Amino acid sequence: MAHHEDLRGQVAIVTGASSGVGWQSAVRLAEAGARLCVTARRKSALEQLRVEVLQCGGECLVSEGDVTVEEDVERVVRECVEHYGRVDILVNVAAVQSYGFFEELPWEHITRVFDVNCFGYFRFARAVLPHFRNQGHGHVLNVQSMLAVGAAPLLSAYASSKHATLGWAQALALELAGTGIHVSNVLVPSVSSPMFDHAPTMLNQKPVPVPPTYDVDLVARAVVRLAKRPDRTLVPAFLQGRLILWLNGVAPWVGKALLSHFGVRMQTTHIPLDRPEGNLFTPMAQGVGPRGSVPPTPAWKRFTAALGLAALTGGVVGGAVLGARGLVRAAR
Ligand SMILES: NC(=O)c1ccc[n+]([C@@H]2O[C@H](COP(=O)([O-])OP(=O)(O)OC[C@H]3O[C@@H](n4cnc5c(N)ncnc54)[C@H](OP(=O)(O)O)[C@@H]3O)[C@@H](O)[C@H]2O)c1
Repeated sequence: MAHHEDLRGQVAIVTGASSGVGWQSAVRLAEAGARLCVTARRKSALEQLRVEVLQCGGECLVSEGDVTVEEDVERVVRECVEHYGRVDILVNVAAVQSYGFFEELPWEHITRVFDVNCFGYFRFARAVLPHFRNQGHGHVLNVQSMLAVGAAPLLSAYASSKHATLGWAQALALELAGTGIHVSNVLVPSVSSPMFDHAPTMLNQKPVPVPPTYDVDLVARAVVRLAKRPDRTLVPAFLQGRLILWLNGVAPWVGKALLSHFGVRMQTTHIPLDRPEGNLFTPMAQGVGPRGSVPPTPAWKRFTAALGLAALTGGVVGGAVLGARGLVRAAR
């Protein structure tokens, strides 16, 4: 495993940098000394980010583009290499959602979600890999989702695109083993990004993330940790992260019961909203900067929920073990 504890002088391309996780990760990487090339469709938002990065003493090249357009992706990478003479890290972040029941999602929404979330990551990786090969080193750092290893109702296109992207990243890591080129992933929980302020919805109601929601900085800090120590899959959250993964291993029916009964209610509000396309095909003015309108869940609530979930599972698993022992004894 390569260790680049010092990011000073390294060049990172950050996609999806005009809002949310991408924006905050760019700021944190710059603070750690990385030189940036930031991209997304909204150039004015990227220019605002550039000002913030310059203010914290960083370097920032703005190169707007659409991840579904191969020429744009190649141009962004070319501009980065022309400007800095190299590229060391690709942080793949750009993604879109489309809220709705599977049967009601327009087909173009499903294919577009895959084109951005999945093929956008592939396109950027293919554009940087020749440079990484020439240099003999490089790092493809993918911002993934807890939905890459799970699911939620109303997000079938998004969850399946994330499963596909994680599968691709795992295959790529195997192909690149021993080349000096690294592949890492971060499994992101619900975060307070502006995603919910511009995501399309077929439900005519404002969508909200599956609780609990964390601050975007949790993910940005995980991105910096991965940039310094690559080749890992980080799960930065405890409750909507390591605890859920453990729970899905020991008692998968708990998550299934919760999400099948409450998953739709958890993600919808009674606030009417007519936004069938959101930022899917064209960018929206709403949602610039790291944080959006959905606040993070307070830590004490997350702590209480974690205790409740642990007690519930512990009780049920413990009960099941005792019951099974009783049955075995009775059978003897
Ligand atoms: N928010 C959550 O709760 C959550 C949970 C799990 C995982 N994640 C993951 O975290 C990452 C960042 O999401 P976020 O929450 O920060 O969402 P966000 O605020 O909506 O950011 C998405 C970014 O992608 C860009 N983008 C969208 N379509 C694009 C296209 N066709 N070409 C180029 N850029 C495009 C957007 O910029 P423009 O519109 O300017 O192009 C924006 O900068 C995503 O990979 C997401 O799946 C988020």
